[in-house]
Amino acid sequence: MARTLKGKRILLTGASTGIGRELARMLGAKGAKLALVARQVDKLKEAADEVRQAGGEAVVIPGDLTDPLTPSKVMDESVKALGGLDVLLNNAGVGTWNHFADGTEEHLRQVFEVNFFAISELMRLAVKPLIQGNQPAILNIASMTGRRGMPAFSEYSASKHALVGLTEALRGEYHRFGISVLLVLPGLTQSDFFKNVLASKGKAQLPMEKALTPSQTAAAVVKALENDTRETWVGGEAKRILWLNRFFPGWLDRKIAKTVVNLWAKTA
Ligand SMILES: NC(=O)c1ccc[n+]([C@@H]2O[C@H](COP(=O)([O-])OP(=O)(O)OC[C@H]3O[C@@H](n4cnc5c(N)ncnc54)[C@H](OP(=O)(O)O)[C@@H]3O)[C@@H](O)[C@H]2O)c1
Repeated sequence: MARTLKGKRILLTGASTGIGRELARMLGAKGAKLALVARQVDKLKEAADEVRQAGGEAVVIPGDLTDPLTPSKVMDESVKALGGLDVLLNNAGVGTWNHFADGTEEHLRQVFEVNFFAISELMRLAVKPLIQGNQPAILNIASMTGRRGMPAFSEYSASKHALVGLTEALRGEYHRFGISVLLVLPGLTQSDFFKNVLASKGKAQLPMEKALTPSQTAAAVVKALENDTRETWVGGEAKRILWLNRFFPGWLDRKIAKTVVNLWAKTA
């Protein structure tokens, strides 16, 4: 099924910066009507202006997804402002870049609040309006770490694995409602993500110069939504790691463990 985005009513979380900001602009250029959610109101207003300049429509719905009351508030206000809902696009996310033994329970819970619990509730609340929607879909942006846990991304990987599991389960459950449930797993992307991590003592030097740009990742998300693609891996490095993990998981385990040992030996 090809999905046209013109006139589609889309609730987009994490629209203030990075991949979500770029997604908002691209969806606006396709003629979508957007409810933009995040905490930073000024940046959301700028994003809404960009959507309108690109040819779309946008309303700003500020909210902190770690607050248990936010998902229902955001869903109600979005459906009211857009006059219904066709797509729930879960993009908001946060991580830690830290070795697990040095981490805290507080950070682990905060990562799960944003990356898993808030999204779970939005997906439950979305059923009612989406059933009335036009070519309805839920698209979740997880991460390649949602299929292959990576060191120093341990808490983040766990939250994204939980999201991937729920996404797959709901794909089966929501088919009877006529709702597509889509998954995008991006690789490393040059966004504000590393500025916003809750902890940043990871030892490796991440190859940010080789990372995807937010517009490359956002373009892959738009394509997945248009083509109704069940699962999309974004970026050469992410694809390489996910293929190795699928066919040579033991070899990949050993390679990663060796890299970690060498890093600690160098920096101890
Ligand atoms: N960058 C990467 O390398 C990478 C790779 C794979 C997957 N991803 C995923 O891509 C998605 C977008 O991340 P990004 O790279 O664009 O990072 P980003 O620039 O840090 O964007 C994260 C977005 O999530 C919102 N957000 C975070 N905590 C929130 C909260 N408590 N309540 C409401 N909104 C919240 C932020 O808005 P406010 O701060 O305004 O609230 C921001 O709009 C995330 O799900 C991330 O896990 C990123």
